[in-house]
Amino acid sequence: MQINRESTLDSNLIRSTIVAIVVLATAPMPLLADEPWQADPEVVARFSSRRDSFNYEESKVPTYRLPNALQQADGSQVGDAATWKEDRRPELLELFRSNVYGRRPNIDATIRYVETGRIDGVFDGKADGIAMETVIEIADRTYSFPFIVFIPKDAEQPVPAVIHINNREFSPLEEAAQENDPFWPARTIVERGYATASFHTSDVDPDRKDGYAEGVRSFYANGKLPADEDWRSLSAWGWAASRILDHLSGIDTIDADRVAVVGHSRGGKTALWAAAEDPRFAIAYSNNSGCGGAALSRRAYGETVERITNAFPHWFCKTFSTYSDREDELPVDQHELIGLIAPRAVYVTSADKDLWADPRGEYAALVASAPVFELLGQASITEPTMPALDSPRVMGKTGYHIRTGEHNLTAQDWNWFLDFADQIVK
Ligand code: GCU
Repeated sequence: MQINRESTLDSNLIRSTIVAIVVLATAPMPLLADEPWQADPEVVARFSSRRDSFNYEESKVPTYRLPNALQQADGSQVGDAATWKEDRRPELLELFRSNVYGRRPNIDATIRYVETGRIDGVFDGKADGIAMETVIEIADRTYSFPFIVFIPKDAEQPVPAVIHINNREFSPLEEAAQENDPFWPARTIVERGYATASFHTSDVDPDRKDGYAEGVRSFYANGKLPADEDWRSLSAWGWAASRILDHLSGIDTIDADRVAVVGHSRGGKTALWAAAEDPRFAIAYSNNSGCGGAALSRRAYGETVERITNAFPHWFCKTFSTYSDREDELPVDQHELIGLIAPRAVYVTSADKDLWADPRGEYAALVASAPVFELLGQASITEPTMPALDSPRVMGKTGYHIRTGEHNLTAQDWNWFLDFADQIVK
């Protein structure tokens, strides 16, 4: 993969024009006959028969118009980076808080990190493995959640790092040091020259609709039920990734300016929101994140706002559910979530059998975020047609691939992630 920086005036002009067309055109975008990727009709038929109340046909995607990331609430157009940074970005962040992910509490807490286990010289002596506990204290109350870190040994300079949001099985340190789990291949990551840490979502905020009382949100609220616009689980998990970044920032063999956050599916939604809320993350990786992640809500392809807010009411703030069946009235869409991360790097993935997550909607959101990258002086993917299967596309600060196979985070995804990270932070 090559970072391809377009530098001539002409190519910039062409790029801006394409971006303007992509952003302003009403959809569905016509599919070109020679699109390198289209959903396999057999897969479409399978999904349609399994979940017949959801749409998997490109021709049935409603006509929509995306909100313009660079237009402020008062109608004025953002024309320079300073206005973006000082006015529009905070405004957009607030819109996502109040309409989608909720607002984090503004309460003072003391946070300590306690080492609970350690194995020196794991991975044939290449790293140290450390089990940690994050202890949060408010007055005389405490809440804690564990995480694991692997730090390469004997690096000549501080190394970049990858924080992984684990929404599956969380292995204790001893196991993580033994097996290279494809979902979090700590050994591979270390061998590629990165430190890595992982925590489990439910240890921070239980991933159940009735788990509130046991999680960190309830701890912060001292048991009080959340208001409509208060943070929900995705935001709590993203907050936890930031607390791990705080810890890594204090380790002198890690370079805190070069830390990526990676998540799959609900973890991929979390990774994008974590990086929107915390500008210290250098890269956000959204793997198969779908609805409420990278996929445009307005396409209503596969999972919808109505379905996700009914099935997972603890993920999004209450307001999001009011946009069921009226996605086109949302004041934001997910391309603007990616825009909030610019000019830092964003990598989005899809899988060709993962129509529930709307691969085309995930790619379209990435492309539609391009005006923000451009305003901030960064190249990003603007090509309207998706790349072919298993052919990562990287342009400047954004990357994308659609992998053959099911909804999953695989060793192959990680290899492409690390290739991108090598270009961005090495
Ligand atoms: C469900 C949910 C998705 C989510 C996925 C996951 O399928 O509908 O929105 O991404 O779970 O996290 O695995």
